[in-house]
Amino acid sequence: MANNVSKIVDDVIQSRRSIRAFRPDPVSQDAIQQILEVASRAVSAGNMQPWRVYVLTGASLKRVVDAVCQAFDTEPEKHTSEYEYLPKKNFEPYLSRRRKIGLAMYSLLGIERGDAERMRLQHRRNFEFFGASVGLIFTMDRKLPAACFMDQGAFWQNIMIAAKARGLDTCMQTIWSDYCRIVTRELNLGEDEMMLGGMAMGYADQDAPINTLLPERVPVSEFATFVQK
Ligand SMILES: Cc1cc2nc3c(=O)[nH]c(=O)nc-3n(C[C@H](O)[C@H](O)[C@H](O)COP(=O)(O)O)c2cc1C
Repeated sequence: MANNVSKIVDDVIQSRRSIRAFRPDPVSQDAIQQILEVASRAVSAGNMQPWRVYVLTGASLKRVVDAVCQAFDTEPEKHTSEYEYLPKKNFEPYLSRRRKIGLAMYSLLGIERGDAERMRLQHRRNFEFFGASVGLIFTMDRKLPAACFMDQGAFWQNIMIAAKARGLDTCMQTIWSDYCRIVTRELNLGEDEMMLGGMAMGYADQDAPINTLLPERVPVSEFATFVQK
């Protein structure tokens, strides 16, 4: 029994990938509700559960997507995240890891180095939730300490795993936070709500080459130290 359970859990965790092309098929409200209920079992310091999530589908999704895409097309220089999610000046070993995934992605999409317009359009796909029928927007009370980001991460991962277990795929997207002002306006967020990012959720387009991306991981021996004494 224990072996079966660990195999199932390991399979779900290991088969989760960030999916960047979805079919438009709707996801049932019931499935979204269940996923969020399961995900809310995530750990959080002091059980504070500092997450809030806005579920966008249909008309609300279109409204937010249209508003952000318009800003992206016309005034991208006016928008930025209120927190730093990637280092301003990257460094090793993170720089190489990031480069590798970027190159692999552009190669699968057939985008050549220096093709700025196709890169821009691919970047824009983020703000269409890659065509997913569900868009999630995450916020957190800005009065909370930065350590609450750890709780958010646990919550996000639970959503992705619970979704995967139900045949749904996801892509976590902090890039949405670049357009936090537009999202804040469209969702009428409170003054204290810091917009952290978005997540696409839906049915993967199995024919899209981008979805064959399989990012490597460094081996355990590279990131773990077994302290003997
Ligand atoms: C906090 C966070 C933010 C991310 N933001 C984006 C994003 O804005 N756009 C995107 O396409 N992928 C984004 N990703 C997905 C990562 O690129 C992806 O997890 C990583 O390349 C490993 O690939 P995998 O998820 O398929 O294993 C994000 C992931 C995390 C955890």
